[in-house]
Amino acid sequence: RPRVLSGMQPSAASLHLGNYLGALVNWVRTQDQYDAFFFVPDMHAITVPQDPAELREHTRRTAAQFIAGGIDVERSTLFVQSQVPEHAQLAWVLTCITGFGEASRMTQFKDKSSKGGLETAGVGLFTYPMLMAADILMYQPQGVPVGDDQRQHVELARDLANRFNHRFGETFVVPEAFIPESGARIYDLQNPTRKMSKSSESPAGLINILDEPKVIAKRIKSAVTDTDTVIAYDREGKPGVSNLLDILSAVTGRPVDQLVADYEGKMYGHLKVDVADAVVSALQPVRERTLELLDDPAELDRLLATGAAKARDVASETLETVYRNVGFLQLG
Ligand code: TYM
Repeated sequence: RPRVLSGMQPSAASLHLGNYLGALVNWVRTQDQYDAFFFVPDMHAITVPQDPAELREHTRRTAAQFIAGGIDVERSTLFVQSQVPEHAQLAWVLTCITGFGEASRMTQFKDKSSKGGLETAGVGLFTYPMLMAADILMYQPQGVPVGDDQRQHVELARDLANRFNHRFGETFVVPEAFIPESGARIYDLQNPTRKMSKSSESPAGLINILDEPKVIAKRIKSAVTDTDTVIAYDREGKPGVSNLLDILSAVTGRPVDQLVADYEGKMYGHLKVDVADAVVSALQPVRERTLELLDDPAELDRLLATGAAKARDVASETLETVYRNVGFLQLG
């Protein structure tokens, strides 16, 4: 079976609606057709300071949300990045074939490092895309299901795969980003030109998977729209309304133009009530199941250890080929 691989950082106590609609929903769908690998990139999380106890807790919570959202650990491989040391080993090799200029052009690095300035930005933030390329190329996947903001990183992984294959002989599958038609870019509810993210300025713009239903409904009902009253899809002119339509489309599976036709002549209030109901009913079971799974952290750790062993079977094979192809002396 063809493969897919993807990951989500354990950088908060809960995933948000962007993670869910931009990635997790799509991951779940791929499981029928693909041999799927999903992981928690805890090594990526430490590119910015993390409290150790919190990191551990967030790693478990993130994995629990994957399972609660529909990742089936019987069919797919679910693991934690740091438990598969081959990721760091391959990352080094890929770092050595990446150009400094190429790495400097990564927009996520530019955004994140611009906040505190280059002097204080960690080097890990700079080499992060090479670690991500290692995560991906290690499993020889055809597809990488991600939201739109990861497109450039997947593009770098493709470039590095091609470069490596060209220099050292066919080694890696060149993967494609699988980006969903709706939900690939969910915006902040209070600031709908900014993508929804855990680091958003105000929690009012953020919907967390683990938020209580009434909190979710309230935030959607207070979403910023505009002073107009027409429900139309126009990313530039009506970013708030368009975001709500995108969310509803991603949750219900109905195309945006159908939704726009349905809401003709209706008020923003109607749309908001429907979005709130749809999001709450989608997230509530995920929330409940996550909380149940977190009641038994030992069982969760056991599932993750099993996943890491499965991942290592594939990872060690790729790494061995890579080491041989670059000219490292083989162990006896
Ligand atoms: P991360 O943890 O920031 O996000 C996880 C997934 O959620 C998607 N996403 C969104 N989709 C739609 N709207 C949004 N507002 C939104 N915010 C986030 C992301 O596109 C992503 O698919 N570098 C990655 C983690 C990673 C990874 C990998 C992913 C590390 N190694 C290998 C794929 C393959 C990241 O920080 O995603």
